[in-house]
Amino acid sequence: MPKVHRLGVLTSGGDCAGLNAAIRAVVHRAVYGYGWTVHGIRDGSLGLMNRPIEHQELTLDLFDSNLLRMGGTMLGTTNKGDPFAFPMPDGSLKDRSGEFVEGFHMLGLDALIVIGGDGSLKILDLLCKKGGLPMVGVPKTIDNDVHLTEFAIGFSTAVNVVVDALDRLQPTAASHHRVMILEVMGRDAGHIALSGGIAGGADVILIPEIPYSLAGIVKKIEDVRRSGRNHALVVVAEGCRTEDGATPTVTWGGQQARYGGIGHYLAERLSGRVNAEVRVTVLGHLQRGGQPSMRDRLLASSFGVHAVDLVARGKFNRMVAWQDRGVVDVPISKVVGSARHVEPDGALVHTARGLGTYVGEEQLVSAEQA
Ligand code: F6P
Repeated sequence: MPKVHRLGVLTSGGDCAGLNAAIRAVVHRAVYGYGWTVHGIRDGSLGLMNRPIEHQELTLDLFDSNLLRMGGTMLGTTNKGDPFAFPMPDGSLKDRSGEFVEGFHMLGLDALIVIGGDGSLKILDLLCKKGGLPMVGVPKTIDNDVHLTEFAIGFSTAVNVVVDALDRLQPTAASHHRVMILEVMGRDAGHIALSGGIAGGADVILIPEIPYSLAGIVKKIEDVRRSGRNHALVVVAEGCRTEDGATPTVTWGGQQARYGGIGHYLAERLSGRVNAEVRVTVLGHLQRGGQPSMRDRLLASSFGVHAVDLVARGKFNRMVAWQDRGVVDVPISKVVGSARHVEPDGALVHTARGLGTYVGEEQLVSAEQA
């Protein structure tokens, strides 16, 4: 069993609600439970690569009850700059992984807890393996696409934002007899759209995992009208494709492209084909901010405590996960490398279809078939 005195913790990848709650749980467990000191690394892997090393000792007095409730991450984060191919100012790529490993030793750390999504966990796992650094992972991402965990930190809060948006869009849609399209995040996975769409009463939910047709959407909206309702709600995941197979993207200042634009594409195609005005709302980064939901606070707290316990037991290269109403841990190697998608024949798709929602091109499940 390794002797741990100094524990490092960092957040990596896109931020989300619940990260501060996870950092708090790590500090509480490490300091109260084991008497260790905890060092927060700034801005993901950058903090250990930069000189001087960017870090802060995390003491219990920093963690007044406020942090549990705050969105974002007090440590900062980054979703760019792979240390194995780090973009340099002259446009070249440099392997800076050695600086990361060196930073870990310079700080005198005995182990590292990485709070990140699939991409970050993959890179940090490789970095730690390269340097033989003991590491435990904690899954976070609003996209909820990390394998072997039913929930990642941030997903629940993001879905609540989608539901709140639909609650706000419905009355204005009804007042103006409109079709409201809500474009939500999720990258290549439709978890946010599906859960948010069901909970928010959407008539149409489009996810990257299930092909749709414009004709199918139009038919659903006509059916809604025939049933006597004058408005409709459409939720579309940002990673959905256009009918000719392209995924719309946006770029700012020549930076890496991000998904965006499918909502406006649909509005353009549906206007004139449905007997109503169509409007689009792009929810964007609102889904990542705000106070963490009850579920994200519980998840973050359970994950943080379990991650520290793994370090104490010398169980490394593992990720904490939520399965069957409790916290478990799984090998990181079985988790990283691909995203966990919505299963087209899974329970939530069945629920949505059972409600009469159009979820893409498949037969509606009739009561007899169910
Ligand atoms: O992975 C989280 C996420 O919010 C995705 O849903 C979204 O596509 C992406 O990050 C946005 O990234 P950025 O913050 O760089 O715009």
